[in-house]
Amino acid sequence: MDVVKITGGHPLTGEIAVSGAKNACLPIFAATLLTDEPCVIENVPNLSDVRFMADILQHMGATVEKVERNTWNICAKEVKSKAPYDLVRKMRASICLLGPLVGRVKRAEVSLPGGCVIGPRPIDLHLKGLAKLGCVIETKGGYVQIDASAAKGANIFLGGRHGSTVTGTANMLMAAVLTPGITRIDSAACEPEIVDLCNMLVQMGAKIDGIGSHALTVEGVDKLHGTHYHVLPDRIEAGTYVLTAALMHSDLIIQGAQAEHLSATLDKLDEAGLKFEITHSDRIRVRGSESEIKPVDIITLPHPGYPTDLQAQMCILMAATQGLSIITERVYPNRFMHVPELQRMGADIAIEGPNAIIKGGRPLSGAPVMASDLRASAALIMAGLYATGETWVQRIYHLDRGYERFDDKLRTIGAQIERLPAEQMPNFDS
Ligand code: EPU
Repeated sequence: MDVVKITGGHPLTGEIAVSGAKNACLPIFAATLLTDEPCVIENVPNLSDVRFMADILQHMGATVEKVERNTWNICAKEVKSKAPYDLVRKMRASICLLGPLVGRVKRAEVSLPGGCVIGPRPIDLHLKGLAKLGCVIETKGGYVQIDASAAKGANIFLGGRHGSTVTGTANMLMAAVLTPGITRIDSAACEPEIVDLCNMLVQMGAKIDGIGSHALTVEGVDKLHGTHYHVLPDRIEAGTYVLTAALMHSDLIIQGAQAEHLSATLDKLDEAGLKFEITHSDRIRVRGSESEIKPVDIITLPHPGYPTDLQAQMCILMAATQGLSIITERVYPNRFMHVPELQRMGADIAIEGPNAIIKGGRPLSGAPVMASDLRASAALIMAGLYATGETWVQRIYHLDRGYERFDDKLRTIGAQIERLPAEQMPNFDS
């Protein structure tokens, strides 16, 4: 297992490019099961989660081939209805197989994904929506079994106590596009990744109205055809670089950053005093060296609110910023596993329920730290870039699930960061 070693305090500058969006790519890969014709998916990030999804599709009967670094050909002439535990347990997003199986095969047997470190992640809303379509659902032996032979369009309210559900909406869409009749999804998620999925489905012949809103209407069709689709750039990766530039007071050009997908984040950073320009529809220039950052309060919410997937990265920025700030996590109220690790580096952060109370501006010094999830890994690497001395980030496999070549990209803008075998990590206890 590898570790990442960062030597902090080195200035960053230059241009950094954003890869394709993981959270768009995973449902898009699943959507290829909706047709027996070939699909070509471009701008696919080279990530372990994408490879897991490719393995699952292959197991389900699809031919899956990576033809270039970021291009995959997928053709699902036949589709099996069972997704086994051994494959599903590796990645929660495999739950978005439910929708395509209901749509195409009219039956599904998908292992329930199990626990998650960022907090409880139930699928009750997915199942409620499918039940509204007329699916007969049974949970048995750790699997959810669905008979969709009598499914037909229906009105579905998909909101829950934390707002809309992203993969739940993806599942409803993928089920409804091949289900006879009209399905109306209210309180649908409107994340850019859902819009990207809708655009692909429409290209395949689906009929969807209200794309980008909280009310989607789908008219079921008999058949979808193959397509050639280019995945949108990753807004969370882009936001991570904007926050890194703010943290390091760096001048950075972020290529592939679509400002319209980052409006809540950019609005907060503007309030915090970050100077930046949107130089093109997919390019942001951050003038960190001219910026004086002030503390701001953040509440994470479903899109278009401030994203939970940029909460840990904002935590480190606020920990480095003189003054008091409060970050409230409304999507995953327990998603603060990065905090004890940041405390080990000297940050003054207290957790009170879903709030992180940050007394920013304490000096941070490098330490061995443990990544607990994908976004926490990015935040700890950011902390390592900022802190004095060496930071060693362990369990780096979390990072590889969702950031393509993160360490390589940071190195090109001046970061002192290297990936090493765990055996090369010093013994800090001796
Ligand atoms: N929820 C329910 N019932 C459900 C579904 C969700 O109560 O049936 C709750 C969840 O527990 C959570 C909230 O609703 O409190 C939102 O969950 P959602 O279903 O939207 O999350 P998700 O679809 O499982 C996706 C991303 C996450 C991202 C969230 C929120 C993918 C593959 N994953 O998860 O990404 O944090 O939306 O934006 O798209 C990440 O990339 O690091 C990551 C965790």
